[in-house]
Amino acid sequence: MDRRVIPSPMDTVFEFDYAVQAEDMRSLYEKAKRDQWNASRDIAWDTPEPSDGRTLADELVDIYGSPIWNKLSEKERVELNQRITAWRLSVLVYGEQGALLACSQLVDTVSGTDQKFFQATQVMDEARHNEVLERYIATRLNGLHYPMPENERVLFDSILSDSRWYIKTIALQLVAETFAVSMFKMMAECAQDPLLQEICRRILQDESRHMGFGMLALPEVIREASPAEHREMEDFTCVAIEKVLTGFFPVDAYRDMGFSATQIREVQAYRRDVAARNDYAVFRKYFKRDMHAAMVSNLARIGLLTERVRPRLAALGIELPSAA
Ligand SMILES: [Fe+2]
Ligand SMILES: [Fe+2]
Repeated sequence: MDRRVIPSPMDTVFEFDYAVQAEDMRSLYEKAKRDQWNASRDIAWDTPEPSDGRTLADELVDIYGSPIWNKLSEKERVELNQRITAWRLSVLVYGEQGALLACSQLVDTVSGTDQKFFQATQVMDEARHNEVLERYIATRLNGLHYPMPENERVLFDSILSDSRWYIKTIALQLVAETFAVSMFKMMAECAQDPLLQEICRRILQDESRHMGFGMLALPEVIREASPAEHREMEDFTCVAIEKVLTGFFPVDAYRDMGFSATQIREVQAYRRDVAARNDYAVFRKYFKRDMHAAMVSNLARIGLLTERVRPRLAALGIELPSAA
C-alpha cells in the first residue's frame, strides 16, 4: 500500500487581522525562521559508514544480552542491528509524514495569524524531517522500510479525521512530540553512526519548538472548556499516550532474520521480563524517565493532569509526583 486516504471534515478560518496578537507565539515563529536548516546542504552525507556496520547501539535491540542474542554470530548481530534501526526509523518517518499532514490542517483550522504563521513553519520542518530520515534509510539501510504499526496508524487516523484543532494539537504537539523529543535525544546519544547522530540532533532542535506550540496554544482552550469537553480532552490524551507507549514491537524485523514463531515469542517474553525489572541499558532507562517526567510536567502545565488522568497514567507505568 503506497498511500492511504483519510476523510477529514474541517472548517478553514480565513484571518483578516495580521498584526501581532500573541507575542510569545510570534517569537516562536521568529525562532523557527531563524533556525531553518537544509537537509541537502547542512548534513554531512559523505560521513564514512561505521566500520562494523552498526547504526545504533546493540543495547537498543530488545534481545541484547539474552540467551538468544548470545547464540547469534557477529554477522547476524549486525544484520539485526540494522533491521531494528530500519524498523525504528520507519516508525519515525511515518510519524513525520503524519505530522506534516496534521500541521497543514492546523494552518487552516487554527484561529489567529500568529498561530497560522507558526504552523506554516512546522509544515516545512516536518517535510524536512520526512525527507532527511527517508534519505538516511535510502543511503545507509538499502531503502529497507517496515510497515506502519497498527497503533501508529490508528493514532494518526484519529488526529487527521477530527475537525477540532485542539484535539490534533493534544495528540501531536503534546503527546507525540513530547515522546519524539525524548526519543530523538536517546537516538542521538546511542547512534553508532555519526551521520544518524547528526540527523537526530538536527530534528531535535525543531521538535522542542513544536512541543512549545502546544504549551502556548492549549492552556486557554483547556481552561475555557465545559466539563464535558474537558473530560473528552482528558480521555483523548490518555488514549494518545497509551497508543504512543504500547503495541510497538518489531516483529517483522525478527521474522526477516529467520526467527521462528517460537523464537519470536521468546523474544517477547524476554522483552516483557526486562521491562518488568526495569533492567534496561542506561540510556533506555534515562529515556523512559525523561519522557515520563516531560509528559507529566507538560500535562500539569496545560491543566490536564487531573484526578481522572492520574490513575490512567499510573496504570501505564508512568511515575507521578504526589498530588499537591
Ligand atoms: Fe518532526
Ligand atoms: Fe515535530
